[in-house]
Amino acid sequence: MKMKIIGVSASAREKKSTYFLLEQCLAEVKRTAEESGGDIGVELIDLAPLSIKGCISCGKCKKGVLCSQDDDYQKLIPKLADPEVAGIIVATPVYMGCMSSQAKAFIDRTVLFRRNGFMFKNKLGGVITVGGSRNGGQELTIQAVHAAMMIHDMILVGDGDHFGGAAWANHPDGYQGDTVGIATAKNLGRRMSEVALKMKA
Ligand SMILES: Cc1cc2nc3c(=O)[nH]c(=O)nc-3n(C[C@H](O)[C@H](O)[C@H](O)COP(=O)(O)O)c2cc1C
Repeated sequence: MKMKIIGVSASAREKKSTYFLLEQCLAEVKRTAEESGGDIGVELIDLAPLSIKGCISCGKCKKGVLCSQDDDYQKLIPKLADPEVAGIIVATPVYMGCMSSQAKAFIDRTVLFRRNGFMFKNKLGGVITVGGSRNGGQELTIQAVHAAMMIHDMILVGDGDHFGGAAWANHPDGYQGDTVGIATAKNLGRRMSEVALKMKA
């Protein structure tokens, strides 16, 4: 079966630093796979232009892979349910020391996959965070997303050194100049690819 890694950009802003770092990470997923003769597809889902409300705990997802809320999450359900998905990378800005409300709404709504036979079990999970400050809560935010991934019984993947991608948007050279942060995002992509290929072998 083909493998795919999905990246979710959970910034309120389209194509800014969160999106950029996720792009770098996903490019490394592909590059690493190709380098070792493998093939991993990638898809970036940008939440910024989408409308995804918080979970209202209506319980409809206890009756099947269903959600009662008629918003843009409906079109994400088949993408996330695709058995070819080997891993999910959540990229979120740090808002008030933790993940964005866009990330939290997206994650809460994934409960439907847990309630229908733990559909994310054994899928890889990685996290990228970007803060306006250099030490503005990136690591705490990564761990908050990791907690949700563990609740799905996913397998956590770091950047081969620490927890995942952690970047600084207001770097004096701009976010494109945050070479240390970009390296952590790329390293996460490399590790996601390496672990996915090992699991397939
Ligand atoms: C509501 C809000 C809260 C924020 N809180 C923090 C914070 O606690 N720590 C931090 O480092 N940056 C904080 N920031 C800055 C963002 O993390 C930063 O601008 C980030 O780059 C946004 O990602 P983007 O470029 O994809 O929009 C906050 C920004 C907003 C809008």
